[in-house]
Amino acid sequence: MAAPPPPPPLHLLLLLLLLVLPIPLASSSAADLAALLALKAAVAHDPGGALSAWSAASATSYCRWRGVTCHPSSLAVAAIDLPAASLSGALPAALPLPPRLRRLDLAANNFSGPVPDAFLASTTLRYLDVRFNSLSGALEIPPPLANSSSPPCATLTHLRLTGNFLVGQIPAEIVQCRSLRVLDLSRNVLEGAIPRELGRLGALRVLDVSRNSLTDRIPAELANCRELAVLVLTNLTASPGEQPEFNAYVGGLPTEVLTIPALEVLWAPRANLDGRLPLSRNGTCRLRAVNLGQNYVAGTMPPWLGECQDLTFLDLSFNRLEGSMAAELAIGCLTYLNVSGNSVRFFGFCKVATGVAINLSSNQLSGSLDMLSSCISIHNFDAGYNNFSGSIPADVGGLHFLRSLVLSGNNLTGQIPGQFGDLAALEVLDLSRNSLTGSIPLHLTDASHLQVLRLDHNRLSGTIPPSFSELAQLTVLDVSFNNLSGDIPNLRHPADCGFFIGNPLLHQCLGTNASLPPTEEISSSKGVKKWGARFKSLIVILVAASAAVISFLLVILLFFVCERRKRAKISNLRTKVVVTFTDAPPELTYENLIRATSNFSIQNLIGSGGFGATYKAELVPGFLVSVKRLAMGRFQGLQQFDAEIRTLGRIRHRNLVTLIGYHLGEPDTFLIYNYLSGKRSLDPSFSQFGDIVSWGRMLMQEDNTSEFFSRGLLDAARKDRLTEMLKIALSCTSESVAVRPSMRQVAAKLKQLENDR
Ligand SMILES: *[C@@H]1O[C@H](CO)[C@@H](O)[C@H](O)[C@H]1NC(C)=O
Ligand SMILES: *[C@@H]1O[C@H](CO)[C@@H](O)[C@H](O)[C@H]1NC(C)=O
Ligand SMILES: *[C@@H]1O[C@H](CO)[C@@H](O)[C@H](O)[C@H]1NC(C)=O
Ligand SMILES: *[C@@H]1O[C@H](CO)[C@@H](O)[C@H](O)[C@H]1NC(C)=O
Ligand SMILES: *[C@@H]1O[C@H](CO)[C@@H](O)[C@H](O)[C@H]1NC(C)=O
Ligand SMILES: *[C@@H]1O[C@H](CO)[C@@H](O)[C@H](O)[C@H]1NC(C)=O
Ligand SMILES: *[C@@H]1O[C@H](CO)[C@@H](O)[C@H](O)[C@H]1NC(C)=O
Ligand SMILES: *[C@@H]1O[C@H](CO)[C@@H](O)[C@H](O)[C@H]1NC(C)=O
Ligand SMILES: *[C@@H]1O[C@H](CO)[C@@H](O)[C@H](O)[C@H]1NC(C)=O
Ligand SMILES: *[C@@H]1O[C@H](CO)[C@@H](O)[C@H](O)[C@H]1NC(C)=O
Repeated sequence: MAAPPPPPPLHLLLLLLLLVLPIPLASSSAADLAALLALKAAVAHDPGGALSAWSAASATSYCRWRGVTCHPSSLAVAAIDLPAASLSGALPAALPLPPRLRRLDLAANNFSGPVPDAFLASTTLRYLDVRFNSLSGALEIPPPLANSSSPPCATLTHLRLTGNFLVGQIPAEIVQCRSLRVLDLSRNVLEGAIPRELGRLGALRVLDVSRNSLTDRIPAELANCRELAVLVLTNLTASPGEQPEFNAYVGGLPTEVLTIPALEVLWAPRANLDGRLPLSRNGTCRLRAVNLGQNYVAGTMPPWLGECQDLTFLDLSFNRLEGSMAAELAIGCLTYLNVSGNSVRFFGFCKVATGVAINLSSNQLSGSLDMLSSCISIHNFDAGYNNFSGSIPADVGGLHFLRSLVLSGNNLTGQIPGQFGDLAALEVLDLSRNSLTGSIPLHLTDASHLQVLRLDHNRLSGTIPPSFSELAQLTVLDVSFNNLSGDIPNLRHPADCGFFIGNPLLHQCLGTNASLPPTEEISSSKGVKKWGARFKSLIVILVAASAAVISFLLVILLFFVCERRKRAKISNLRTKVVVTFTDAPPELTYENLIRATSNFSIQNLIGSGGFGATYKAELVPGFLVSVKRLAMGRFQGLQQFDAEIRTLGRIRHRNLVTLIGYHLGEPDTFLIYNYLSGKRSLDPSFSQFGDIVSWGRMLMQEDNTSEFFSRGLLDAARKDRLTEMLKIALSCTSESVAVRPSMRQVAAKLKQLENDR
């Protein structure tokens, strides 16, 4: 998972939309027309009719064919955008391109054949996206012509070839594509080494070579790509049926590469890397996500990781790291820390106070767990199989998001804090294999979502609270090998007698399967004539009668309680209601959200920020929302919160993240937005005109911005001022977070423009 960058100020995209000119109407140019018709001829199947209008009959208006964008003044074809158009057919190697084409997007179709020669020989193409097709053969970049000033491929900034069947090596000639910023070759069948020539691509920002069959060393020359922000060497995230990761490199990750100043994402899990991590690093650390899990990296934990203030994801699990992690990881916004399976010692882990998932299991960590209670937003914490000692801090009761806590296999003493019962979200609690004493606290059974409770191999005494029978989701209750006495409670789910052995004083386990017959069975026993059965019926009647009386009393009690609550100032926080705004579909209910996020599972986590973590939820197939779960306590007044939320809910625009509902309650408060950046901030679908951002950039580079603005705007305002505004808008769409201005800076600049008037 790459931690997604924060969304760009989308209203500036909106501003861009408002400034744009409509597309010109008609033109004709023989080479353009021939190229378009050749592409159409290569399409064997077009079930969606995407190219139905592409025909010689309408040749004069090819600028209006679907997917075609023409240059506004010259009317030459500037872009062809036909992503996910269900097109298939073999592309001929000699397929021509429109002579001034800048952008070609045929992603997610099913084109086969080789990558046509013209694609990588073009001297005008900037953006080439043929991801997820069935292209095959080797990748070949034609040599430069002796008489040409502009070598083939020199203008290309984006080359996206992921998800095809390309074979052979990554050609060293790729260095001719000297403007490349994004090179995505992942999910092909490429083999051999990553060519060292890649190091000469000075503008390269994103390099993804994962899920191929690459071998050999990672070239240290890559470090010459000073702008490199994203480096993906392997990727284990594959859907079922997808090709797994076959890349297996030799040697270690060169120090120079790991310390590229611009590097933000380094992804190389199970990449067969060894070596050590550098102990020092110069300059500001921009790293946001590092995954070197399941390699053979040895040596000590790098102290400089503590300087990486933007680091949100760190997986160093299953390596051979040792040494201490103490103050080094005083990282503010780490949401995922996995150092399980190393030999790390000592540890001041809860400096990582906002961590959502932390896995420290199977190390040699020692000391007390007192700091745990400061990890207030933690969901999953696994510190099993270490050497932690002392008692479990009683203030764990404040960890309201805690879903899973594993402390097994340590040296913990003292009692189990009853405060665990305060944790409404708690599903898994594993305290097994410690030296805990005392009895199982009665209050523990108030943790009503408990599914797995392991307390085995401790020194617990006393009885097992019978109220465990009230926990509807409890499937595992393992208390074996303690010193418990009394009866085994009747559990809702069948339990294994093995979970109770090793307690000599405990009454015999009858197999909890047989313990409490379901109610239906009792009430359907009318026809049974035996005395025993009649006796049972009598009991049933008595029980039913007393139940009726009790229910009556409860109803009266509830009535009074409700009356009191009605008068309370703040509405009932426990109501599991999602407040929705217009357009929200009926599926948007509390239960559906919990289910669709798998109860806020880490798998659905898509990001985290100051106010809490954001999750993706698919409510009905194809309908996605993102759910921002707020860390409570940050809001001063709930009523004020409510008022602000309602204002937000009224704002509606296709290109804005829209608030469609919220839930205010315990233990959760969350906001629900329509789901988009899955969408890149520069996603073509943000505009019916194609990628308006590239268009704006292109015109800016050509110093030709007047084409960008409608005539009305040009009449009303000075062009240099409009250009300045466009410049600001474009800077807001920069792919690099570092370059993107803050809203404060944007506001200041706009104000300055106004004052200059
Ligand atoms: C790994 O692959 C998955 C899907 O195949 C993708 O969603 C994810 O972004 C990739 N990770 C990185 C770091 O590129
Ligand atoms: C893509 O085309 C190939 C033939 O070129 C065919 O075997 C394959 O099934 C097609 N895949 C899809 C998803 O249509
Ligand atoms: C360069 O030479 C090739 C043949 O070698 C020719 O086809 C092409 O037109 C020439 N280009 C220029 C710009 O002279
Ligand atoms: C950091 O900079 C110093 C001096 O400029 C240099 O000697 C050292 O090798 C650099 N270290 C790294 C890891 O780049
Ligand atoms: C922590 O990592 C270990 C592997 O060392 C794994 O078995 C365990 O399931 C992980 N814990 C959680 C909570 O995912
Ligand atoms: C941590 O890493 C281990 C081993 O790579 C893996 O089993 C586990 O799922 C990871 N995640 C968490 C949250 O522990
Ligand atoms: C565990 O920690 C205790 C001190 O808390 C120490 O005496 C003991 O040697 C440690 N055991 C291991 C295996 O590191
Ligand atoms: C458990 O901790 C005690 C002291 O707190 C220590 O004497 C003992 O050696 C520890 N046990 C293990 C297995 O480390
Ligand atoms: C087990 O608990 C009983 C009291 O319930 C106590 O008498 C006995 O000493 C305990 N045994 C051990 C080994 O702690
Ligand atoms: C309880 O039932 C489950 C299946 O329903 C079975 O696997 C298990 O062995 C049973 N346990 C006992 C003690 O009968």
